[in-house]
Amino acid sequence: MTRNAALTFTPTIHKDIYPAINPTIQPSLSHSGRSILVTGAGRGIGRSIALRYAEASPSTLILAARTSSELDVTEAEILALNLTSPPTIVKLVLDVTDGKAVARAASTIKNDIGRLDVLINNAGYSPEWAPIADGDPEDYWRTWEVNLKGVYLVLHAFLPLLTETHEKTGALVHVLNVSSIGAIVCIAGASAYETSKLAVVRLTQFVQTEYGAKGVLATSVHPGGVLTELSRNVKEIQPFLTDSPNLAGGFFVWLTSQPRTWLGGRFVSVAWDVEELESKKDEIVEGDKLKADVRF
Ligand SMILES: NC(=O)c1ccc[n+]([C@@H]2O[C@H](COP(=O)([O-])OP(=O)(O)OC[C@H]3O[C@@H](n4cnc5c(N)ncnc54)[C@H](OP(=O)(O)O)[C@@H]3O)[C@@H](O)[C@H]2O)c1
Repeated sequence: MTRNAALTFTPTIHKDIYPAINPTIQPSLSHSGRSILVTGAGRGIGRSIALRYAEASPSTLILAARTSSELDVTEAEILALNLTSPPTIVKLVLDVTDGKAVARAASTIKNDIGRLDVLINNAGYSPEWAPIADGDPEDYWRTWEVNLKGVYLVLHAFLPLLTETHEKTGALVHVLNVSSIGAIVCIAGASAYETSKLAVVRLTQFVQTEYGAKGVLATSVHPGGVLTELSRNVKEIQPFLTDSPNLAGGFFVWLTSQPRTWLGGRFVSVAWDVEELESKKDEIVEGDKLKADVRF
């Protein structure tokens, strides 16, 4: 699939939040009573995801990142929304590549909150692009550590609480793993980032395969091309950074607002129009589309 084909899967392509995915407009996007965890919630796309979820009235919003001061800013922006039913905010100063710290965080959330309905693995890292022989091996591996090991460790620690929540409530629980359009293209110099994001797509498929019967619905998502600290340093992609981070925020809220089991284990882009995406449901399922498979 080419980059363009992937970005234009629905005829209408969005660059900013729109009514169908805006929780301040659509009551059907409510997450009332639910507990939501967003990693990488201190800035960039993760902050917008947190803000838009806050507007969807969850009971608890758990914000994770390493930089405490940035989590404070996200919290302050949520409070500044002056919501009629603001969520309880829990801030986790956490390095997702530290297995012990992630396990401790899961135990804290289980004890203090007791449920997790939506897990969003958004924390990510991109090195400067370089051909394989030219780049820094440590930085290459750092990319895999944050983008794959981090996602794996968070899944490893939190899947038990997710499945327990499903058992208690009877409702499906959600895993959204932030991948990238980079997962499905092969651009010279981008192998560290693009291979790690392709691995995230396949890992998401494994979550669905292994935990679907336990009530988990897992989807990997391209969050748009957004100017952030991560993307600002990658000079090759500057012309593509034209999306609002709120597009991801709204789309994520839409994605977890109802159980769309036909998207389980699949890859989607926030740029796609949600109504047109729903109209392609049969085509997606019957064609076994939006999966990271080697085709013959
Ligand atoms: N921006 C784009 O155009 C674009 C396109 C496709 C995909 N994405 C993906 O979208 C996600 C968000 O990226 P962004 O552009 O918003 O980047 P960003 O502004 O740099 O934000 C990244 C977030 O992840 C956190 N993070 C990084 N390493 C971490 C670690 N080891 N442990 C815990 N948290 C960590 C950061 O906080 P701390 O540094 O404080 O930990 C920060 O809150 C990433 O997965 C990225 O790959 C972005």
